Amino acid sequence: MCGIFGCIIRDGKAVRLITDGLKRLEYRGYDSVGVAIVDEGQLQVRKDAGRLEAVVNELKINDMKGKVGMGHTRWATHGAPNMVNAHPHTDGSGRIALVHNGVIENYMELKEELIEKGHNFVSRTDTEVIPHMIEEEMKSDVGLQVAILRVLRRLRGSYAIVVVTSLDPDHIYCARFESPLVLGVSEKGTYCASDVPAILPYTKKVNYLRNGEMAVLSLEGYEIMKVSDGSHVERGLEEITWSLEMAEKQGYRHFMLKEIYEQPNSLRNGLRLQEQYVNLLTQFLDRGREVYLSAAGTSYHSCVAASYIFSKLSRLTTIPVVSSEFIERYGSNVGIDSIVLSVSQSGETYDTLKAIDHARMRAATVLGITNTVGSTLTRVSRAYIIQQSGPEIGVAATKTFTSQVLVLAQLALRLAKMRGKLSQDEQDELEADMKKIPDWVQMTLDMCSEKTKALAEKYVDDKLFLFLGRGVSSATALEGRLKLLELTYVPALAYPAGESKHGPISVIEDGVACVFICPRSETHSHIIGSIMEMKARGAKILAICEEGDEEIKRLADDYIEMPKGIPDIISPIPYVVPQQLMAYHLAVLKGLDPDKPRNLAKSVTVP
Ligand code: AGP
Repeated sequence: MCGIFGCIIRDGKAVRLITDGLKRLEYRGYDSVGVAIVDEGQLQVRKDAGRLEAVVNELKINDMKGKVGMGHTRWATHGAPNMVNAHPHTDGSGRIALVHNGVIENYMELKEELIEKGHNFVSRTDTEVIPHMIEEEMKSDVGLQVAILRVLRRLRGSYAIVVVTSLDPDHIYCARFESPLVLGVSEKGTYCASDVPAILPYTKKVNYLRNGEMAVLSLEGYEIMKVSDGSHVERGLEEITWSLEMAEKQGYRHFMLKEIYEQPNSLRNGLRLQEQYVNLLTQFLDRGREVYLSAAGTSYHSCVAASYIFSKLSRLTTIPVVSSEFIERYGSNVGIDSIVLSVSQSGETYDTLKAIDHARMRAATVLGITNTVGSTLTRVSRAYIIQQSGPEIGVAATKTFTSQVLVLAQLALRLAKMRGKLSQDEQDELEADMKKIPDWVQMTLDMCSEKTKALAEKYVDDKLFLFLGRGVSSATALEGRLKLLELTYVPALAYPAGESKHGPISVIEDGVACVFICPRSETHSHIIGSIMEMKARGAKILAICEEGDEEIKRLADDYIEMPKGIPDIISPIPYVVPQQLMAYHLAVLKGLDPDKPRNLAKSVTVP
């Protein structure tokens, strides 16, 4: 998820609007920045790694002259954050510049095709193929508009792109497929941006570009056309009523809520991993004598879930370990035949990196899953996968948890195939189910948004919560508990439900809230037994169960129904969502800030 802004203005310097616009889009990505301006028929590009302010000052970007230009603030997905990989990218002639937000899945084959035609590439990004493809199409004299349309029809994946060029200095070309792009017009100029906050200071009159549309911007306004056949699209302007602060959160009150609702999209991106890295990590996992899953906090909970998934799908035993305990617990066992798969959304967590240092010192193979390209974890891992969640601003991890479990589940499925542990039908069915996950999460959001808000009002004064699940749902319980704990500061316990009678049941008395996670599974009858145990001692049962599960609903004081047909083994992804929402609403009801809980930091880089 990156931030893009482009404009054509009547008077003054476009660059001022561009850098201000990027400032308002920095929540979308902030590891590198770049601007391209066309002035007196010349295309100028300035870009580098680093935060916006630093790069703008260092490269004197605000001194650039010209009324037509664009800018980009990056959240790296392909290629580390450095000057070469920063956007804009240009073609071989240096006359066409392009910025992009999204993932081009088929960029490798497009790149090879262009290299055969003599194109030279300087970056490790997927994006750079696009301006080179436009340059190649231009050789058949079809004109820029047709050239760009032809190129867009060949791209697979998600994109929002903006093109400025000295070949056509009075126009800006932009298009989108899945990644957002909005147009804006005012007397002073015409604008396009990834999101409304960047345009709002100049106009409230906007037009949201739809999937598969391209627009050509000029001082007179814009023309929209379909990418598929170039046909004209007529659509009126909309009036924006949000404040600037609301716009940055896309109308949501807090970043955490926005990030919870972004999960269907982040999970779709999580299904677009780079094949060669999924295969590479799978080969390493297959060869390990023992496999440790090392992480902290929420990332550790995705590892606990993964330990069930690896075991059930690929018959691989993995050892989830809290990274701050790795050295004490396994430090003397880890060795040259060990695999340490470290999971960290920031890629900078001190405890997780410390465990890696120790493992590397003992010649173990370190693998990584992270959300941050260029983070330390990517530099100390033998191989790693970027989980594609996009930047997460809220301190409480939400979309990064679900993305991590999805990445780990795909690795487990790939390993199961490699080891021949599943029949073709089982493989096909699971693959189909994995692809349904983003839609199941969307259905969950639609089904339980109001319910979780109402239940939060009912449970706002509770002084203790227990989160209980069986099998892989014990990992979902751990994560539900952490969300509630870190956002509301209310004491909460989480246990595999079967364990509760060995101690935790002692805290149960009338009215103690017990949240049971009960997807359809082989342990269903056992979870009913656990519910009855707690209920018999006066507990208040809040069950998260499949739609129409009358057995559970009859026993529960309150219940949240989930979409039908979600396989137990991948249930942590959708089943954590109502718990994220409950914790969020409880925090808001208690007058707490869900984005900045007390005593916590987004990335814990100290011992
Ligand atoms: C989760 O909501 C917390 N922010 C925290 O537990 C977090 O998961 C932990 O610090 C690990 O962070 P990482 O994924 O960046 O390594």
